[in-house]
Amino acid sequence: MTGAMLSDIELCVFDAYGTLYDFNSAVARHRVTIGAKADSLTEMWRSKQIQYTWLRNSMGVYAKFWDVTGAALDHCLAAHGIADRSVHDALMGAYLALDPFPEVPATLAQLKRAGTRLAILSNGNSEMLDPMVEASGLADAFEAVLSVDAVGVFKPDARVYRLVEARCGVKPGKVCFLSSNCWDAHGAAHFGFSTVWVNRAGAPDDALPGKPVARINDLSQLPSLLGVS
Ligand code: LAC
Repeated sequence: MTGAMLSDIELCVFDAYGTLYDFNSAVARHRVTIGAKADSLTEMWRSKQIQYTWLRNSMGVYAKFWDVTGAALDHCLAAHGIADRSVHDALMGAYLALDPFPEVPATLAQLKRAGTRLAILSNGNSEMLDPMVEASGLADAFEAVLSVDAVGVFKPDARVYRLVEARCGVKPGKVCFLSSNCWDAHGAAHFGFSTVWVNRAGAPDDALPGKPVARINDLSQLPSLLGVS
């Protein structure tokens, strides 16, 4: 863990995919069917999915994240020579019930017990976020599950981060924003949140505007960062 302890935080806002929920768990569930290409497929799928959001932002052509995720998967299956449509459907189905990372339920419960307010802010649209949050048994932890769909643009556009104050009534300076996506952490920090980069992959920092105030390896380190025991 690096960075000073955070004080005066009213609300913790989490990115969903990669931060609370493991997008690799979709392909992992169908590893036997997919075979040796599974690791390459899951990595490329995530990469294309995110690239498509940035490209759509710069083209000014929004589509729901569900459709972007499906289009990215179409490309990646073609690139891997997998033509069986049932693989596409099985992977998209799995995306509606991704596994939370192992430390997530206990960490959220600890923060809730201490009275910390919790929310999600995600590129995902509600039709895909809500079933996943429900299936994981974590729905009661969050006071809000906010989607970029409300503003029709993806992260890291500032209109997305503004949704937090608009919906939860908390000023950016009192928000602790958490993302495992380094570019999202930089975008949120540049916007004005106290941002913690959850560096699950042990990656080097991105050279982008905005400076996260702290870096942790996984969310189990968050309560001590917030002074919650
Ligand atoms: C999200 C993606 C960026 O949940 O992980 O917004």
